[in-house]
Amino acid sequence: PQPLRLGIAGLGTVGIGVLKILRKEAAMLTARTGREITVTAVSARNRSKDRGVSLDDYAWEDDPVALAQRDDVDIFVELMGGSDGPAKAATEAALAAGKDVVTANKAMLAIHGQELAETAEAAGRVIRFEAAVAGGIPVVKALTEGLAGNNITRVMGVMNGTCNYILTRMEATGSGYNTLFEEANKLGYLEADPNLDVGGIDAGHKLALLASVAFGTRVAFDKMELEGIQRITLDDIRAAADMGFKIKLLGVSQMTGRGLEQRMAPCLVPASSPLGQLDGGTNMVVLEGDAVGQIVLRGAGAGEGPTASAVLSDICDVARGFRLPVFGQPAGTLREVDGAQSNTPAPYYLRLTLQDKPGALAK
Ligand code: NAP
Ligand code: HSE
Repeated sequence: PQPLRLGIAGLGTVGIGVLKILRKEAAMLTARTGREITVTAVSARNRSKDRGVSLDDYAWEDDPVALAQRDDVDIFVELMGGSDGPAKAATEAALAAGKDVVTANKAMLAIHGQELAETAEAAGRVIRFEAAVAGGIPVVKALTEGLAGNNITRVMGVMNGTCNYILTRMEATGSGYNTLFEEANKLGYLEADPNLDVGGIDAGHKLALLASVAFGTRVAFDKMELEGIQRITLDDIRAAADMGFKIKLLGVSQMTGRGLEQRMAPCLVPASSPLGQLDGGTNMVVLEGDAVGQIVLRGAGAGEGPTASAVLSDICDVARGFRLPVFGQPAGTLREVDGAQSNTPAPYYLRLTLQDKPGALAK
């Protein structure tokens, strides 16, 4: 078979991680997929930046749209980020030019996923996004492939490494936000706009994507109840610890008779529970299906290696010829649903309502 030729736009934490695996594991990837996987061209903003990896073997494009349209590119790998702008323009250009797309961009898909899925399917192309949800945890594949015989009843979990890192390090070290932002940045966890992380928006994007795949519904990020961790203080964390709890940014989504419940908010979880013991950038996703029961997936939710691992799994799927629809079923069959306000007393999670009162838990 012909080599599979990649064009990679975005050479930051994730893009460089992908290049490293492609170089180091070329023979293994060929053995597993039956095709040689090569990189023909790359793009980023700053051509002269030292990225710790030689780019001499690849053509350079300043414009990611031009990269996406190149004749010598079969898969456009979008690792720039941003819901609109160059990421969306280049993804559309790639689909129009007959390329498949692999992306880690949850912001783009949570907002434009339906439209992009329709465009991809009309063009007979695929968009794969394993890396967009929970970093290295293969949760999209778990839902679309491993659990294809189940009616999914609930999806929940901790899905933002930055927030989990900040909350656990606040408790362990007593450090404030600024120090911890710096540490999370060094680990490659932060979004270009870290307000997306601490505001719960990034985790909300991920939950909305999972809900679409799990329940066969259109992505409904705009119907989610959302609250971030910005108002959590060290006093709150200490007060929770005194009572035997940890504070986690927890997402829960389930289909009810009233519509689709989707909630992402700080919650109290027992310190001794699996969720309570989740440290650093780790994520945990809990999936419940009517046939399988409950499945718990735990692993690194952010950072170079784990995210690149997920991007590679999508690239390998395309190399093997998997042609799954973007959200696991054709875009036209995804149902429009009402968003339902969550009134579920989740089994052992107690909603922490801080409203406008920082430190409320401590009072
Ligand atoms: P990053 O380190 O900020 O890298 C972004 C890259 O995109 C940089 O190389 C940047 O170029 C390039 N870029 C930005 N705007 C561009 C433009 N207009 N034209 C060409 N190149 C452009 O970001 P990242 O952490 O790798 O994240 C990339 C994507 O993966 C995002 O969608 C993010 O949400 C997602 N993601 C990240 C993680 C993680 O742990 N980091 C995990 C899962 C998903 P320069 O280097 O020249 O500035
Ligand atoms: N900023 C994200 C996080 C990256 O901290 O989880 C992984 O999606």
